[in-house]
Amino acid sequence: MTQNTIEYRQVGHSGLTVSTVGLGCNNLGRPGSVTETQEGADAVVHAALEEGITLFDVADIYGSHPGLSETMLAKSLGSEREKVVVATKFGLDAQGANGPDWGRRGSRKYIMQSVEASLRRLGTDYIDLYYLHTPDPQTPIAETLDALDDLVKQGKVLYLGNSNMAGWQIAEAEFTARMSGGNRFVASQNHYNLMDRRAELEVTPAAEAFGLGVMPYFPLANGMLTGKYSAGKAPEGSRLSYVRQHMVEGADLEQLKAYGDFAAARGLTEVQVAFSWLAAQKSVASVIAGATRPEQVRENARAASWKPTGEDLVELDAIFPKVPRTALF
Ligand SMILES: NC(=O)c1ccc[n+]([C@@H]2O[C@H](COP(=O)([O-])OP(=O)(O)OC[C@H]3O[C@@H](n4cnc5c(N)ncnc54)[C@H](OP(=O)(O)O)[C@@H]3O)[C@@H](O)[C@H]2O)c1
Repeated sequence: MTQNTIEYRQVGHSGLTVSTVGLGCNNLGRPGSVTETQEGADAVVHAALEEGITLFDVADIYGSHPGLSETMLAKSLGSEREKVVVATKFGLDAQGANGPDWGRRGSRKYIMQSVEASLRRLGTDYIDLYYLHTPDPQTPIAETLDALDDLVKQGKVLYLGNSNMAGWQIAEAEFTARMSGGNRFVASQNHYNLMDRRAELEVTPAAEAFGLGVMPYFPLANGMLTGKYSAGKAPEGSRLSYVRQHMVEGADLEQLKAYGDFAAARGLTEVQVAFSWLAAQKSVASVIAGATRPEQVRENARAASWKPTGEDLVELDAIFPKVPRTALF
């Protein structure tokens, strides 16, 4: 694995260390994408390895059928697996791929089934970072954390993460783990990018307060922040040409133009601005973007090294305003 310009960071207050840019793997086996095939997936994963990316983010539900992205990632990584951080998730509807869930996907029984199924599909003895993909309102968080703690003690999982939790749920989980003395969540994965800053209201402050590393998903807003949709049209083969077309149809073209001008004035690409802005946020550990082509991975891997000044941040706030706290009341 060659070392490039990419940097490495600790995830929150844990010793887990990952590349500042990770590879989101929900495109592996995605119908209609170039990475639907193993060959397409290999090209993207191998480019990521060459660029020094060490974090590969997948989930049990990703792919044209649940489990497919995990299986494809394992094949693409091959003997490199030990050198990287494999993060996967359980807790969204895996349509039986992990066995029955009875609608209680944070329960001890379902967690034990899910981890075995993911380990099998990933062809590995351990998962570096295991996420609860979404809160389970039916199961007490104490039961979920207790089962996850057992997985860490058994060596099947090294670190624990949560995803799509509200700030209060992050706090509840933190204090539940502290009271039991068990392993705590070290990472929080949430929707967060320049166009969607809701995470700043409750999630990133909670993560900072309790020492969790934030892993923003949708860092490019499905590609809207790359500049390729700035004309209000989706280029052929791009994600928004076949899913979530409303994002392009409803795009604020003036905002996208101001963003393009901001990047151009600094000699940056829009991808560099999107990644570096996220990487500059105190709580962020790694920016995970999916990619469908090796060129995208190479560009993304190098995109987080710009260090915005205070003035740059103020200017970006003017283009992409923060969500006011009053939105909560
Ligand atoms: N925890 C959760 O609930 C959750 C939810 C969603 C995602 N995730 C994770 O977060 C990761 C990131 O989400 P995402 O992949 O949807 O992120 P995203 O940043 O919003 O969009 C990535 C898409 O943008 C395009 N793109 C990427 N790099 C580009 C570049 N350099 N130039 C031009 N276009 C580029 C690609 O699409 P095209 O080439 O097809 O246009 C790519 O698939 C996922 O892979 C997944 O692992 C987690």
